[in-house]
Amino acid sequence: DWTPEHTLETLLADVRAKVGNDKVMLAVSGGVDSSTLALLLARAVGDKLTAVFVDHGLLRLNERREVEAALRPLGDKNLRVVDAAQEFLSALRGVTDPEQKRKIVGREFIRVFEREARALSEQGYRWLAQGTLYPDVIESAGSGEGSANIKSHHNVGGLPEDLKFELLEPFRYLFKDEVRELALLLGLPEPIRMRHPFPGPGLSIRILGEVTPEKLDILRRADDIFISSLRDWNLYDTVSQALAVLTPLQSVGVIGDERSYGYVLGLRAVSTVDFMTADWARLPLDFLDEVARKITRQVPEIGRVVYDITSKPPATIEWE
Ligand code: XMP
Repeated sequence: DWTPEHTLETLLADVRAKVGNDKVMLAVSGGVDSSTLALLLARAVGDKLTAVFVDHGLLRLNERREVEAALRPLGDKNLRVVDAAQEFLSALRGVTDPEQKRKIVGREFIRVFEREARALSEQGYRWLAQGTLYPDVIESAGSGEGSANIKSHHNVGGLPEDLKFELLEPFRYLFKDEVRELALLLGLPEPIRMRHPFPGPGLSIRILGEVTPEKLDILRRADDIFISSLRDWNLYDTVSQALAVLTPLQSVGVIGDERSYGYVLGLRAVSTVDFMTADWARLPLDFLDEVARKITRQVPEIGRVVYDITSKPPATIEWE
């Protein structure tokens, strides 16, 4: 019978049978798939797991702490958090083209991950685990170098020849909702279990133009107000993805008797089944009103808030 409990027991047995006494490494992104896999592997192989979380400095407010808290069951020794923010930010300095940003973040990620993988390989780690799901398997089988490969640089396949790992993909016959059921059984906290997708390049593609520490800070605070408000209003689970975008536009406003110039912030929320097409979410006007007031009050660098009412196609979900 296909209960989540049964699936969990089967996966645990399979993993144990496969890896025996070997050591396993895993990259965690903070998403539901890799976080669930981390908890599963911790249960299957205990101390023989090392999960590597690369903080690329493009995460949202408190995101790193949330991931650390969710993966506490691994124990401090088995979760390695790599603070690579400076490396990513220097590599992104002066870059404005979105595809260039994606390439740079992907390249830096592989560079940092390869360094970690090499160190672990030298300590005798033999298995590289990945949270590949059934739809990923289908997609990459069909299209070779399809968009899934470009878009999910956290699914690292591209390690150099001399770094030999056996690939461990316990979720390769599962769908997302099955992983969420496992996540529930494994005690993954709700905010991560039900989390919207977040792109690999992180906030770098939600700052139109150059990514700077100041802009990251502004966007983080604004995005957090939007997302926390969605949760407070019980709207978070009614949309498939929600995000804030910091534009380089400075628009005029008035504070007291003075003219002021602040950034224009875009808010976007969509409903979708497959992310290939998407409908803009009809969020309540009172909700949007509250969010705009909060953002302009608490993030004074932002002077104007706009809500994106374009569906996909023609507009993509992200703004760049
Ligand atoms: P678009 O903007 O293409 O987004 O409508 C569709 C879905 O893909 C995500 N997305 C990305 N994910 N790396 C990723 O890992 C990327 O470069 C990237 N670009 C878009 C987007 O967040 C949405 O869920």
